[in-house]
Amino acid sequence: MKFFIDSADVEEIRKAHAMGCVDGVTTNPSLLAKVGRGLEETIREICSIVDGPISAECVSMEADELIKEGRSLAKIHDNVVVKIPMGVEGMKATKALTAEGIRTNVTLCFSANQALLCAKAGATYVSPFVGRLDDISQDGMELISHILEIYRNYEHFNTQVLVASVRNPVHVLQAARLGADVATLPYNVITQLANHPLTDAGIKKFLADWEKVPKAAKPPA
Ligand code: E4P
Repeated sequence: MKFFIDSADVEEIRKAHAMGCVDGVTTNPSLLAKVGRGLEETIREICSIVDGPISAECVSMEADELIKEGRSLAKIHDNVVVKIPMGVEGMKATKALTAEGIRTNVTLCFSANQALLCAKAGATYVSPFVGRLDDISQDGMELISHILEIYRNYEHFNTQVLVASVRNPVHVLQAARLGADVATLPYNVITQLANHPLTDAGIKKFLADWEKVPKAAKPPA
């Protein structure tokens, strides 16, 4: 399973990348607004940190405009994946950009039928939003399970399932158990994966016991 970091904050991306777990990055307009930087300069800097798929999102609404915007985003760097909003216009743009060899990530997917269309259109990734479904009392992980089941029924579908809107380590565990291709994780979820209260307690005990070992029995500092 691949991990992407869901962030436009280059410092967070550097820190997560140093942990050795970052295979790619996803951004969106809200994440860019949070860091208050322009899309192109941010994407270029991210591409200099992580050598993997970096999603940059289109904001156009019509297929023709989405296609133009997608082409221009793809020119920023070879690693850019064009993020396209789900919908009829988005599907047209996905089909056209795929035919040109441009990789796409269809975002804002909330149903298995939408994911089915993404695979038909040749999307590289589909991003089902599990957290936002959970927020409205629907089961986000059930959607992942349905999409994976459908994709596995049809060998010629090549679209990868990118679990998005991840809010906690339980989402990550469930996505991995289901065999999702990718999960895109906020930085705080990545650090939570590394932590466990018994690890903290164990470290504290080992350090306390180390103080009791005679100085002469320890290696030179
Ligand atoms: C990633 O591609 C999505 O834009 C992101 O995971 C959305 O997450 P949110 O629902 O926490 O905003």
